[in-house]
Amino acid sequence: MRMRNKKHRDERLAACGHLLLEAPSAPIVSSADVFGGDAAPLWLEIGCGKGDFAVGMAEKHPEARIVAFERVSNVMVVAVEKANATAESRPDNLRFAVADAANLSVWFADGSLDAIYLNFSDPWPKKGYAKRRLTHRGFLQTYFRLLKKGGRLCFKTDNVGLFDFTLEELEALGKTPEFVTRDLHNSEANEGNVMTEYERNFSEKGFPIHALTLTL
Ligand SMILES: C[S@@+](CC[C@H](N)C(=O)[O-])C[C@H]1O[C@@H](n2cnc3c(N)ncnc32)[C@H](O)[C@@H]1O
Repeated sequence: MRMRNKKHRDERLAACGHLLLEAPSAPIVSSADVFGGDAAPLWLEIGCGKGDFAVGMAEKHPEARIVAFERVSNVMVVAVEKANATAESRPDNLRFAVADAANLSVWFADGSLDAIYLNFSDPWPKKGYAKRRLTHRGFLQTYFRLLKKGGRLCFKTDNVGLFDFTLEELEALGKTPEFVTRDLHNSEANEGNVMTEYERNFSEKGFPIHALTLTL
């Protein structure tokens, strides 16, 4: 979606400011640091795009508290407006941050997260850019540090190359996902699946969706 100018974008973000987090002065230890109240399962989506998954998961899982990262503010404005439009009809359990996965340790303390979701992450197909992939071992090691014992990493993509790369990276770290499918929509995990914008587009074109879940 094209924004006419920066001012327009910033005004729109400011109008949804109650849903947006600033970088914390100390890493978040539990959901209560963000949402108040009793501690609840804290889930993070990285690269939320236009927010379909984050909003869908917030509606479906009132028991969870969800933070969604997106590093491009022109994209984030669409996500946060979508969340704002549904705010009255769903639980108050969703916040967004214009933030980069490279800075995760500024945001979250070790062992603070119950789940991390990576959906249709940019594939960065050129070999020289492998370290930018959000499932490169450098990122995976950070996720495993921030996740609690018993926490989950969930990943889905249309991209075979990125999916194979992810399985190799996990194996190199000695981690084995308990669930792997090359066709999510025809698997047992389809029930309860919340579609992302990319997922809808790719599956409508006939691409199967690859997915994995790994519990620590
Ligand atoms: C291919 S899109 C997928 C969007 C959405 N998850 C979906 O499935 O419809 C990937 C998104 O991840 C964001 N992204 C890429 N690298 C990121 C990073 N390091 N930190 C935060 N967001 C990132 C991009 O800006 C983009 O919006």
